[in-house]
Amino acid sequence: MKTRILFVCLGNICRSPAAEGIFRSMAETRGIADRLDIDSAGTYGGHAGDLPDPRMRAAAAQRGYRLTHRARQVREEDFERFDRIVAMDDANYERLHRLAPSRDAARKICRMTEFCHHHPDRTYVPDPYYEGREGFETVLDLLEDGCAGLLDTLSDD
Ligand code: 4NP
Repeated sequence: MKTRILFVCLGNICRSPAAEGIFRSMAETRGIADRLDIDSAGTYGGHAGDLPDPRMRAAAAQRGYRLTHRARQVREEDFERFDRIVAMDDANYERLHRLAPSRDAARKICRMTEFCHHHPDRTYVPDPYYEGREGFETVLDLLEDGCAGLLDTLSDD
């Protein structure tokens, strides 16, 4: 059975599609991508159908990640389909808890920064939308750290 992971941010055009792309790339490198079902979504649906933000695509491409996800909003069925739902910040985390249809469903929700081993002071992945280039680089640093840590927990399964 595949392990199904959903990454969630606000707009699903910056942080969570980058997390999805990085996580898939790292899973491929480790040879375990076929054991995983990976997707991303946003708590806000205003960008549904859009490719990731061009600034995020450019910054990710510099590190070798090609982001092709089309944005979509989180839906209640996601709590059935996915085993882990990974929130980028507190607002997403709380919104996901309000959407969760049951206590079992709510137990699937976690925070990206729980898996970051090299940024122990960080409790959330900051929204880069109104930031400059440095904001996108910080997001990618945190996501590379967190995706590696999350993959380590799955390799142990
Ligand atoms: P994301 O970034 O949640 O990382 O995709 C944002 C994208 C769009 C908006 C805010 C944050 N927005 O306000 O439209």
